[in-house]
Amino acid sequence: MDSVRFAVVGYGNIGSRHVKFLKELDGAEITLVCDTDEARAREGAREADCSYTTRFEDVLKDRDVDVVDICTPSGLHAEMSVAAMEAGKNAISEKPMALNLKEADDVIRTQKRTGMKYFLVKQNRYNPPVAALKEVLDSGKLGDLFLIISDVFWNRRRSYYDDEDWRGTLSLDGGALFTQSSHFVDLILWLSKRPVSVEATMTNIDHPYIETEDLGSIKVLFENGSMAVMNYTTATYQKNLEGSITVLGTKGSVKVGGKYLNELSEWNVEEVERPEIPPGGPPNTYKGGYQGSMSNHDKVLQNVIDVLRDGKEAKVSAAEGRLTVEVMQAAHISALEKRPVKIPLAGRDLDFDIKTSIPFPSRK
Ligand SMILES: NC(=O)c1ccc[n+]([C@@H]2O[C@H](COP(=O)([O-])OP(=O)(O)OC[C@H]3O[C@@H](n4cnc5c(N)ncnc54)[C@H](O)[C@@H]3O)[C@@H](O)[C@H]2O)c1
Repeated sequence: MDSVRFAVVGYGNIGSRHVKFLKELDGAEITLVCDTDEARAREGAREADCSYTTRFEDVLKDRDVDVVDICTPSGLHAEMSVAAMEAGKNAISEKPMALNLKEADDVIRTQKRTGMKYFLVKQNRYNPPVAALKEVLDSGKLGDLFLIISDVFWNRRRSYYDDEDWRGTLSLDGGALFTQSSHFVDLILWLSKRPVSVEATMTNIDHPYIETEDLGSIKVLFENGSMAVMNYTTATYQKNLEGSITVLGTKGSVKVGGKYLNELSEWNVEEVERPEIPPGGPPNTYKGGYQGSMSNHDKVLQNVIDVLRDGKEAKVSAAEGRLTVEVMQAAHISALEKRPVKIPLAGRDLDFDIKTSIPFPSRK
């Protein structure tokens, strides 16, 4: 395989970033852009110098597509990933993998049955301070990890939700946990042991025109007795304030902070000097001026090329994406039913679906 041929599906905020990065990567070629909005599809095709379509079925039938790059609203990720792999294509999905565990399982089953590759965008793992934290943790030099705290204090204004119909809906967005904070849940799970239970509180504090929560607090207990607490909101006054992870171990404390996990805010580790951290990429800045996570999509897309062309290992597994969905689903059940929820999910907890859940009453 000389170059890997991508179809970018969904040419909105993040799809246009995928096109930009794919254009710059050796070994990648964009052969098709798909968006149900024809003007966007056309614009993406012009940018990528390829053809366009407004019909996803065309992507599935196109013989010049090796990878379907899914950048559509969150609620479509799983079904599009399944359809792509069924059609004999590899798939890369923006986060989150799915809005419920059933769909995440469909993705995994389809991947196993078809033998196609499945990739998930979790670009924050590449942030230099996050990578330094993971390295010291894996080396054992932080001692036994006993607490992780993650704070996601972001702002999303009315214009953000008004710009696109899907935002703030249960069925396509899933809320501030699934859409804005899933990166942070992923990192907590990447850094810790097996989760065994989840407790959460959620509400809609400042966005009466959306169906989902905009504020939540989640506690996760792990099999070794350690715990994680995550506080998140999209209702922070006027602008993003913080996106951080603090890890406390018996031999050290590390905080990765800034607004987008972009700074090494604290490093106090027994016998390990604070590392020199290379500057990371800037945050993604989107239409409307709001900002999201640090932009490491080039590294994520490079990994797709390395795996498909050179047989290297995928950086994120579908099982990891599934676990993130499982913990987020557990958090929603816990918040709704006001009870701790055991992981792995069992019984009726497996059937819970945020897509058909009840809208969060607004406190305003
Ligand atoms: N990794 C990250 O840091 C990051 C950052 C931003 C967004 N995202 C994720 O990317 C996804 C998209 O977010 P966005 O902000 O780019 O949204 P967006 O609304 O700007 O773009 C989505 C695009 O998908 C198109 N679309 C909708 N349904 C379609 C269909 N059936 N077929 C083809 N195209 C379709 C829309 O017309 C739109 O152009 C979300 O799931 C979000 O969570 C990830």
